[in-house]
Amino acid sequence: MVPLPDAFPRGFASDNFAGIHPRILDRIAAVNRGHALAYGEDAVTARARAAFDQLFGQSVSTHFVFNGTAANVLSLMAFQKSHGAVLCSELAHLWNDESTAPERALGMRLIPLKSVDGKIDPTALAEVLGRGHGVHGALPVALTLTQPTEVGTLYSLEELRTLIDLAHAHGLGVHVDGARLGCAVAALGISVREMLLESGVDALSFGGTKQGMLCGEAVVFLQPGLGADFPYWQKHGLQLASKMRFVSAQFEALLEEDLWITNGGRANAMAAHLHGNVKHLPFVEVAFPVQVNSVFARIPVSLLEPLQRETFFWPWDERAGLVRWMCAFDTEVEDIQRFMETLLRLSPHR
Ligand SMILES: Cc1ncc(COP(=O)(O)O)c(C=O)c1O
Repeated sequence: MVPLPDAFPRGFASDNFAGIHPRILDRIAAVNRGHALAYGEDAVTARARAAFDQLFGQSVSTHFVFNGTAANVLSLMAFQKSHGAVLCSELAHLWNDESTAPERALGMRLIPLKSVDGKIDPTALAEVLGRGHGVHGALPVALTLTQPTEVGTLYSLEELRTLIDLAHAHGLGVHVDGARLGCAVAALGISVREMLLESGVDALSFGGTKQGMLCGEAVVFLQPGLGADFPYWQKHGLQLASKMRFVSAQFEALLEEDLWITNGGRANAMAAHLHGNVKHLPFVEVAFPVQVNSVFARIPVSLLEPLQRETFFWPWDERAGLVRWMCAFDTEVEDIQRFMETLLRLSPHR
């Protein structure tokens, strides 16, 4: 591991490395006057919830939490059964990056499914749903999909519908982890209502942090009556902010004039630009289709550390030389130019 500096120049490590979008920071300052009701009873939170209703074109049930792990785990509470299981991709954040929070908080088993380019293979889903092990196995109660996926790919509308219909046909609820949903909406060019609500998704983790917020994610129950007990889960799940208005205000700004989609589209465009620059290099092999804001590539293992020293990023699989270069809403063309100069200077093929 290379030593880490206190602050980095803009790079390609993660969209979590980025700062706060100025319009969101301004909005936090704008609501920072007077006093307001706490725990989400305030007017700003009411407005932010109404903005989600507007986004989906109907009344939905929206709650604001601090982070994505909580959004995923607490929204899955809507399907909780002590003998239940949640089906997810083998690459899912829920499976790989949320420690044992899902098992601990939900008290359910996770079952990872084979995925192709980060997307759950419908045959693998059908196979698990058809096992029929009765009371001896864990009962699948929910399917969770990540859109866009952890490896920067997208489910098409048709692919989503196939998986959702299959899950529903077996009585499962469907959750979507939309930590980078703005990138997906920008890339697919369809509304979030059409992509998720009309496809039958039941519960959604709507990403705020990676789309330009300081912190905060929204849990949105799309089907009427679902998640009615969420306020209790939120409190006992340690996620009820007292000064909620400062999280809500960020969402109000993020949804205004589709800033979340603009930010996602901007990050996507930068990743497309980076991809265009690296794809012809003989020592770079792009590992997954580049559809949103990240480029996954295999590079010579010997290049990894020297490159990281100059421009920090995370290896995805260090031993295989698989790396992730990720763009954010604030990535600039000059950042890519600088990165390319470094990459070419350190290249084993000079
Ligand atoms: C796909 C996905 N879901 C959820 C999250 C949210 O995680 P956190 O709990 O760190 O906010 C992330 C963050 O990297 C993510 O990539």
